[in-house]
Amino acid sequence: MELLLLLPLVIFLSIYCAHGRSITMHVLSDEGDGTPIPSTLFGIFFEEINHAGNGGLWSELVSNRGFEAGGQNTPSNIAPWTPVGSSSDVLLATERASPFARNPIALRVEVLCDSCQAPVGVANPGYWGMDVRAGDEYKIIFWLKAATSSSVVVSFVSSDSSVTLAQSDTINVDGTKGWTKQEIVLKAQATDHYAQLTVTSKEKTVFWIDQVSAMPVETYKGHGFRKDLALMLEELKPRFIRFPGGCYVEGERLQNAWRWRASVGPWEERPGHLGDVWGYWSDDGIGYFEFLQLAEDLDALPIWVFNNGVSHTDEVATSLIGPFVQEALDGLEFALGSSSSKYGALRAQMGHPEPFNLKYVAIGNEDCGKQYYRDNYLQFYYAIKKYYPDISIVTNCDGSYRQLDHPADLYDFHIYTSASNLFNMNHQFDKISRNDGPKAFVSEYAVTGNDAGRGSLLAALAEAAFLIGIERNSDVVHMTSYAPLFVNNNDRRWNPDSIVYDSWQSYGTPSYWVQKFFKLSSGATLLPSNITGSTNVNSVVTSAIRSSDTNDPSIIVKAVNFGNKAVGLKLNIDGSFWNSANSTAVILTSNNVMDENSFSNPTKVVTKTVTMSGKNQMGITLPAYSFMAITVPSLGSNSRDSELHSDM
Ligand code: AHR
Repeated sequence: MELLLLLPLVIFLSIYCAHGRSITMHVLSDEGDGTPIPSTLFGIFFEEINHAGNGGLWSELVSNRGFEAGGQNTPSNIAPWTPVGSSSDVLLATERASPFARNPIALRVEVLCDSCQAPVGVANPGYWGMDVRAGDEYKIIFWLKAATSSSVVVSFVSSDSSVTLAQSDTINVDGTKGWTKQEIVLKAQATDHYAQLTVTSKEKTVFWIDQVSAMPVETYKGHGFRKDLALMLEELKPRFIRFPGGCYVEGERLQNAWRWRASVGPWEERPGHLGDVWGYWSDDGIGYFEFLQLAEDLDALPIWVFNNGVSHTDEVATSLIGPFVQEALDGLEFALGSSSSKYGALRAQMGHPEPFNLKYVAIGNEDCGKQYYRDNYLQFYYAIKKYYPDISIVTNCDGSYRQLDHPADLYDFHIYTSASNLFNMNHQFDKISRNDGPKAFVSEYAVTGNDAGRGSLLAALAEAAFLIGIERNSDVVHMTSYAPLFVNNNDRRWNPDSIVYDSWQSYGTPSYWVQKFFKLSSGATLLPSNITGSTNVNSVVTSAIRSSDTNDPSIIVKAVNFGNKAVGLKLNIDGSFWNSANSTAVILTSNNVMDENSFSNPTKVVTKTVTMSGKNQMGITLPAYSFMAITVPSLGSNSRDSELHSDM
């Protein structure tokens, strides 16, 4: 114990293995040292891209459940539904026969055979297959009408239709009753990760179906989010969630932009829309309410990005922008108004009488250069500040290199670039002015292109250095999030991404694992530190923080080695409070810097625990192309494993 009390506390990290390349990091860690890191610093950005929500986080299994899909890549609004039975047995057609005014199309199914040999009707393959597992329950809701009294059966069948995984009792339809809502729970008897849902009959009949939903009974916090994916978000401990885009908010054309009003209310009444930037239809089961709910479930602050009358190809002139401004104000009332207000009442009807914790909005996405952006922005800005003075507003115009010509609380900063550029950008915010101007919201960053592939270690290490730079500049950077968050492996509109999945399996790219290193940073204290080195070790970027748990604080030192040679690191932590003997370390590295994770090897590049070889002299080096976090607990702490260590 006496050894531990020696001042300053020194941890040797196997400096001898590093062939003379070694550096010393001096950290000031006394009480009073350091500057607070914003509690919002690390969050996530959800965009409906790559089937992130539809066919991703939203656990609806049916694709095009209301037969409304259409547009550039979906010439038929029946697809992906397919007939069950031969063309002489069944006829499918859409009709304007829906019971719902805002989504007028329903599917007419004509069964032509009398006493059919096998079930005849229609099948939905979901989003590249439905994950149906033996023993699990699925809630099926749909609207049904028949021309004459007859019966249908709802089933899950295997992808090749050879196995029935679950089947309902016979559902009798009274031909005189018109549309009826059907609700059943199917318990699967067998598993197929790429199953289909069928609605069939064996008798000659005509029936119509509309708004067909199938969801697992068990979802994240019971709110409809796919559990494995939501848990991966939870593991990042995000402090905010920016949504729902990105370009998705703008639309290629304004008529296809995401608008909050169309995404709320009973799901079966939502019209859905074509997300024309990323080229696919959205049933809008995951809408404004669900995003706010997700933020609450993750204990993250929602950051709502709304359209400001600007799309990729058309714009609303400032003289006509009034209805858009009102729409934004109404959206704020939906989130924040009392349940006796018009839109607060709608929120209450949807199951959330209390207001949501919305504190930030962004006016548009990447629109600063557009003709009407600035003038439209001011209309939104002053209207919002008038009615919601506490809401912080994000502008699209970059304030990092020049003074903004309009008021804002934060400015948006996006960067997609090569690994070496992003690595060097760990100094990006060192030089910007420390005046009272708006702070940066680095809401989209990533290494892209050849350096990144579909998510390489190289890209992740450059991102780690960039994030350390942000951590060290968190007096001028208020928030940051990687982009894009999600990709369904069957629809890669953008590479790389943070979390990859298909209908049933998922993994994190190395970039996802890098983000985990920062999950204790928001709200922690940045400790002053400097590096001295025996050689030119420009490849190493470091930071030191003290965690925010005042009862059990730890120092967490992060170090990226972006070079192709190992580097020894000697830690020199000033102060008597720290227990080097119980230090722990985790590392992200791999044999080849271009290594990626995949479904066949999802843990090729993941964080691993570094074995400490001794109590006071621990045999650790910073290997070439690696990212390491060393946690030094306080003397009073009994736990050898910090949260960072044990969770990874
Ligand atoms: O993250 C993908 C896209 O990149 C976003 O939609 C957009 O904001 C940026 O250009």
